[in-house]
This record gives sequence, structure tokens and C-alpha cells, in this order.
Amino acid sequence: APYSEPVRPQIHFSPTVNFMNDPNGLVYSNGTWHLFYQYNPTQNVAGNQHWGHAISTDLYHWENLPIAIAPEKEGEGIFSGNAVIDFENTSGFFNESTPKDQRIVAFYTLNTATSQTQHVAYSSDGVTFTKYAPAVVERNQTQFRDPKVFWDDKSSRWIMALALSQEFGIVFYASSNMKDWSEVSRFQSYGILGYQYECPDLFQVPVEGGPDDGKMMYVLAISINPGAPIGGSFVQYWVGDWDGTNFTPRDQAVRTMDFSKDFYAFSSWSNSPGNKAYAIAWANNWEYSQVVPTSPFRSIQSLPRELTLKYYRPTPQFGDLILNNRPVNLSAISSKTLYSKKSAQGSKNNQTVALNGKGAFDIQATFKLPANTNITYNTIGSFEIFAGDGKQSVKTGIQMGEPTFAFIDRRKAGSSFADSNPFFTDKTSGIIRYQANYTEDQYVLGPLPTSAYLDQSKQDRYISLQAVVDRSVIEVFVNDGELAGTSVFYFDNDQIPAKVQVSVGDNKLELVDLEVKALQSIWK
Ligand code: FRU
Repeated sequence: APYSEPVRPQIHFSPTVNFMNDPNGLVYSNGTWHLFYQYNPTQNVAGNQHWGHAISTDLYHWENLPIAIAPEKEGEGIFSGNAVIDFENTSGFFNESTPKDQRIVAFYTLNTATSQTQHVAYSSDGVTFTKYAPAVVERNQTQFRDPKVFWDDKSSRWIMALALSQEFGIVFYASSNMKDWSEVSRFQSYGILGYQYECPDLFQVPVEGGPDDGKMMYVLAISINPGAPIGGSFVQYWVGDWDGTNFTPRDQAVRTMDFSKDFYAFSSWSNSPGNKAYAIAWANNWEYSQVVPTSPFRSIQSLPRELTLKYYRPTPQFGDLILNNRPVNLSAISSKTLYSKKSAQGSKNNQTVALNGKGAFDIQATFKLPANTNITYNTIGSFEIFAGDGKQSVKTGIQMGEPTFAFIDRRKAGSSFADSNPFFTDKTSGIIRYQANYTEDQYVLGPLPTSAYLDQSKQDRYISLQAVVDRSVIEVFVNDGELAGTSVFYFDNDQIPAKVQVSVGDNKLELVDLEVKALQSIWK
């Protein structure tokens, strides 16, 4: 049966066969979430790019649909892009009888041997697309791609962000009719340049908590490949202001969206209901995505994420707002609670829980570091997820200290692929910016502290760790999304996750609560 291979994630989207990369065309229309994606329908490596298509009503259960957009000529590719709803038929593509929220317009890059140009296709039924023939944006360029379009209330027109990939620039265009576009501004040479900019996304995110609770602010995300500090592909972002023409970051800080290696081509959904921001990313890395040991498919999309912005103590190094990143409501797919213990204050015991189910689990714990504890290199709260053979494992945890960091360790998770690929780095880590605990302290916008990493050794410190493990991928969320890490791993010998060991390290930590849930497969 499709979707039954041991390496096949059970709650993450993947195509039945062949190679997938970036999410494309994310749009909510008439009660349906659309996910288009870069797809090679003929091989299990990149090339011959089409837009594959799937739909969902809850962002977890996906129904596969026919290919939505295909190239006309051999050797050409339909590259990444996005989609919007043209409610007011500004394009003139729709009949007045088409319900307003079903007027989907997709923007994509046509890749040929000599150019990358931007094109439009539209759909009234959410399944079949009609191409509008001429390119709508071109500039005699081969490195110019990945349109992201949004309706801008500030200037009452459509805005398109595009990557001038090897000029390290995002160029913004404006249009009133989706066909005639002119350049209005640029955002260029910011942050880590890497080799090329890809998949820009400018979108609004609600602030959560603090003085601006509920207010929408702008985030610009740029995918960069190669050039990640830990190798290959990664996503950086800026929080800032969009005035209708220019994006201005609020500080010099460069932030990465995910601390591990497998989170790329991030994209947000347009037309999300309510003042909410939802997004997804391709959970792999161009350093090895075309050779990973999965067949007959390659690559998955990340869990759908709900994004908010949260205030942290302002410092010159970091600025004050951080993108918070948590999985969309997992209760939509949870089946059995395998273990649950709340408020076990003082428990210094390790805990082992059998993972009975289809290989997809949600593991959540809160660790407490009591005040005035002397921290060692082994003051680590961790989850080690073992394969059925009891030998192979993938591990994630929190190393306490100043600073405290989270890590993912896939060094013991199957050696046959890892040994053959020098870029399949086995350990990644990210700093926990602020030791968020259960106080309101994180909203204090007081004088600048001397350090971004506050010395809290004189008070009890709580850190929560969540790992969603799904056959061959682990996604880690610290402090309810303050920090996220996504990593694929490949157990040898058809093994799947079977047991988790929750550890309090050198016994200086306490396990305050622990909950382990089995997640239902989203595939029939
Ligand atoms: C990013 C990317 C895009 C491009 C697409 C081609 O992963 O390189 O820039 O449009 O993939 O598949």
C-alpha cells in the first residue's frame, strides 16, 4: 500500500512517488488549504519541475490531486511561486459568477536554459489552471525567481517579492491588475549572503502577549542556499515595517528560523482566516536531499506551523521580537495517550515509555532546574528515541548553562546513509535566547540587560521540550516554539521509533511533567 514504507512519515505530507522540494502556492480558499509543491513526476531526483497539488481541511489530512501546472516544453521547469485570492477580479481572469473566494491566481517562475521569467495561471475550481500566456515580469536574468504576491492594504495594490538570487537582493514590484508590474524597491545584501537568495516571503504575523498583543507586524523570510552556518540550506528572517513601498527591518539582527538542517523554502499561507499566520517548509537540505535513502519518494514537508511574534528582553545584539513557531493543533491527529504525569515536582527519575503505534509520536516534558544549582556538562534534559532494535536512536535535549541550548543528535540514527554523506551533519544545536519561564518577565521592556542570556541561577528555571517524531523526521520545539529544530534521520534495517527514554542528565534537573501521545496516520 502507498505510504506504508518504514521510512515513510505518517503525519507529514509526502508525494506517493518521486521527488518533491519547495512548498508552493499556499492559499486558503473556500474552506480548503491548498498545498502545491515543486515536483518531478518522472524521477526520484530534482528536475523536470512541475507544481504538484494536495488539499486539506485541517492542514494534516491531505488529499492528493492531479498535477496543477506543467511545463509546455521539454527542458523547461515550473519553479517556485505562490498564490492569492483575487476577490475583486482585478485581473479580469474570472467570471462574475465565480465565488469571490474561489478566484485563485498562482504566480510561478518559468525556468528555461536562458532565463527565469515570472508567469501567472488562474483557477476557478481549485484544481485546473489556465496559463496566461506572456511573462508578467522579466529582466533578462537567469537568477531571478520565486514570486510571492500579496494584496497590500497600505498602498491598495498587489505587491510581488522576487529573489535576485545572486545579487543577494529581494526586489519588490507593484501592480493593480496582476499583469503589468513595475519595480518599487529593493532589500539587498542583508544578513548572511550565502550563495543565493531564494523563496522570499513577506507576510504579517500577530504579536502574542505583551504590549502589542494581537497587533499584526511584518516578517520577511529569505531562504539561502548554500551558505547555512551549519551547511547547505537555511532560512533567515527579519521583523520590520512595510510602508507600502519599502521593507525596513527594525534592527540589524539576523535570525535563523530553525536551528537544525532540514527546514528550507519556508512559505506562509495567504488568506488564512482570522489574524493568524500559518506556514510550512520543505524538510530537507540541498546538500543531500537527492540521495537520501527513501524510495519510491524523496522528501516531505514540515509540520504545518502557527507563527506568532513574541517580545523578549531587548538587547543590541538581538532586537526584541522573535518569531515563535509551533505545530498547528496536533490534537486533530492524536490517538492514544501513552504516558501522562503532571506536576511531579521533585521527580529526578528517568522515564522510559514504549512507543506503541504507527511510528508518529508527540513527546512533551517540562524540566526544572532548581535555583542555585551547579551546572555541569551533563545537566541535560533529553529524549532519546530508540528504534525497535534498541540500538539505533535519535536524541534531542536541552543543555543547561549560560547560555542554555537545545540540540538534536542523529549520530546513532542509522549509519549506512550517514557514513556515505559527509554533509549529513549529525549534531545541531541552537541557543535558547531567553530562559522563558512561567513569569510575565519576558514582557518587561526595561533597561537593556548586560547580557542577552540572563543569569537566572538564583531562581528556579523551567524549560519545556516538545519533540514530534515521525518515522524518519524529528521536529523539536523549545518553550512552546521559542526555538524550533527540524531534522531528518534514517534508521537502517527498516526500523521505526519504538521507545523513548526521558532523562534528567546528572540528576540536577527535575522532570515536572511528561506527556507522550501516539499520533494517527494521516494516510488511509
Ligand atoms: C529552492 C529552489 C527555488 C526554485 C526551486 C526549483 O529550493 O531552488 O529557488 O524555484 O527550488 O525547484
